[in-house]
Order: sequence, then C-alpha cells, then structure tokens
Amino acid sequence: MKERLYELKQEALRRIDEAKDVKALNDVRVAYLGKKGPITEVLRGMGALPPGERPKIGALANEVREVIQQALEAKQAKLEQEEVERKLAAEAIDVTLPGRPVRLGNPHPLTRVIEEIEDLFIGMGYTVAEGPEVETDYYNFEALNLPKGHPARDMQDSFYITEEILLRTHTSPMQARTMEKHRGRGPVKIICPGKVYRRDTDDATHSHQFTQIEGLVVDRNIRMSDLKGTLREFARKLFGEGRDIRFRPSFFPFTEPSVEVDVSCFRCEGHGCSVCKGTGWIEILGAGMVHPNVLEMAGFDPKTYTGFAFGMGPERIAMLKYGIDDIRHFYQNDLRFLRQFLRV
Ligand code: PHE
Repeated sequence: MKERLYELKQEALRRIDEAKDVKALNDVRVAYLGKKGPITEVLRGMGALPPGERPKIGALANEVREVIQQALEAKQAKLEQEEVERKLAAEAIDVTLPGRPVRLGNPHPLTRVIEEIEDLFIGMGYTVAEGPEVETDYYNFEALNLPKGHPARDMQDSFYITEEILLRTHTSPMQARTMEKHRGRGPVKIICPGKVYRRDTDDATHSHQFTQIEGLVVDRNIRMSDLKGTLREFARKLFGEGRDIRFRPSFFPFTEPSVEVDVSCFRCEGHGCSVCKGTGWIEILGAGMVHPNVLEMAGFDPKTYTGFAFGMGPERIAMLKYGIDDIRHFYQNDLRFLRQFLRV
C-alpha cells in the first residue's frame, strides 16, 4: 500500500505539472482527491491491514493528500498569474502611437468679417439689431422715401412674393423699423447685419443673395462731420492706421445729402495699383444724412433730430481684405477655399 500511495503521489504531481489551464487542473483535483478517487479508496481498504500498520498508512495517505493539495494550489496560482499576464499583454496600449487628428470647424470667412465689423461698432457704443428678410413693400421702399412708381426702385431689382411682400433688397428697412421702436426719442445707435436679395444674374461680382451691414445714428445735433469721423475711424481699424477716406456726392432716396465713401488703397498707399484700378481709392460703402421724410414717417421730428446712415457689403470688404476675386466663392462651400481662412 505504501508503494501504491507513493505511485499515486508521483502520478498526481506529474499530471499537475502538465496541466495547461485551470480546467485541466480541476480534472486532476477531482481525479485524485475526489470522493471516488484512489486515495479515498486506499483509506477504505485499510480494514484489511493489520491494526499496527493502520496508523502509519493513514498518516502516509494524509501526507500524500496534503502534498497533492499544495501542488494543486501552487499550480492554480501560477496559472491565474499567467492568465493575468496574457491579458495585460493583449490589452497593452501603445502610448507612442500618433493620435488620429480631429478636424475642428471654423467660422466662414464672411462670418468672420461681419463679426469683426460688429465688434468695431460695438466698441463705439452701437448695439446690433436684426430684422426680417421677408419684408413688406412699406419698410423696404415706402418708409425710405421710395413711394410706389418711384424710378429709383429700379436700382434694386426685387424678388416679390405678393404685391406687398418681397425679399428685402437691402438692410435699410431696419432704419425705419428701429426708429419706430424708439417712438420719436433719441438717441438711436445701431448696426444691422443680415442677408439681402436682388434679382441679379450671378457672376464674379454679383450674387442674387448677399449680405449688408446697415448703420444708423439719430440724435440731436448729429452732423455730416460725425458721419465722416465715424467712418474714418472704422476704415482705419479695418484696413490699417494709415488709411484715409473721402466722400463723393451720390444719390439715395433715403439720405440727403448722400455720399459714396472711398478708402485710400491699402495695397499701394494711394499711388495707384490694380486693386484700386490706378485711382488710389477704393469704394467701400454708401451713406448720407437721414432724409427728413424718413425721420418723419418713422415718428421723429426732423426739426429736433438729425441722423446719419450707412450701408456696406461685407462680401466686397472681405474680397478687398483677402484678395478674393470672385463673390461666388463665399457660397460654394469649396473646402479648398474655406480652409485658407482657418483660424490659428
Ligand atoms: N441701402 C443702400 C444700398 O443698398 C445703402 C445705403 C444705406 C445708403 C444707408 C445710404 C444709407 O445700396
């Protein structure tokens, strides 16, 4: 029986050593230490031994059981450790791998120019107002001193929806709307950016939809010199400190007098180049003193109040500033164009 136990021990230890995983190890455990296992069997057969032998064999059997038990535990711990190591190796993160770049969105170049202009005027105490793109004939024309049948209506070919409703052809209706809200009392000091629509054929310099920024100041003692000082300041901030502006007489039904405003060429400093077409000056906006009829129709007393207004096209300003040669670039969403204006 001694030999049998010795054999069992060797056999069990060998199989434990060979077990490749926890399941195989469990099979060994059941096979050798289970209730129907060979050691239990040896112990059961002890009745046939002489009484003097029994304690020795019993002790030996327990010792064998103990050795197998310990070998099982040691192997179990080793297998588990190996399993953890395998997992760690499989899930290892290579921190030296370069990341996948995330592309950030970016404001449209036109949005940037509009925001830049807004900021300039906010810095001068203006507030930003916005109004409807679908407008009534009254605000788009009549309240601006353009009664029905007025020939100057043809300056702005319009998209009519009904006889009385159209897509606004300029942001000037916001002059009348804003003054009405102030109920005859100044000061009024706003700029109004927004989309406008004209029945034009699209080409390099025309678009049936574009943007404008309107400006309006109404108060007591507002003079043409205030307009000039404001626009000169604006031109210097936007195009550079050395810039100057000049007024040329013009005509708008809602301003009197009216002017076309030029800025000295920022490319050639006024000497004459392709940007200013050799003149040294670049036209950037239309402006004038608010017509007394417009003040009156919107509820302001023209004897007490005067004002100035101006209107500019951010597309034109952006084209000048960035040397863009075709207005259609702004609306085609060609990423090759847009990516040139990434903010760094
Ligand atoms: N509304 C005019 C236009 O679209 C521009 C303008 C605005 C002129 C305000 C004078 C005063 O051409």
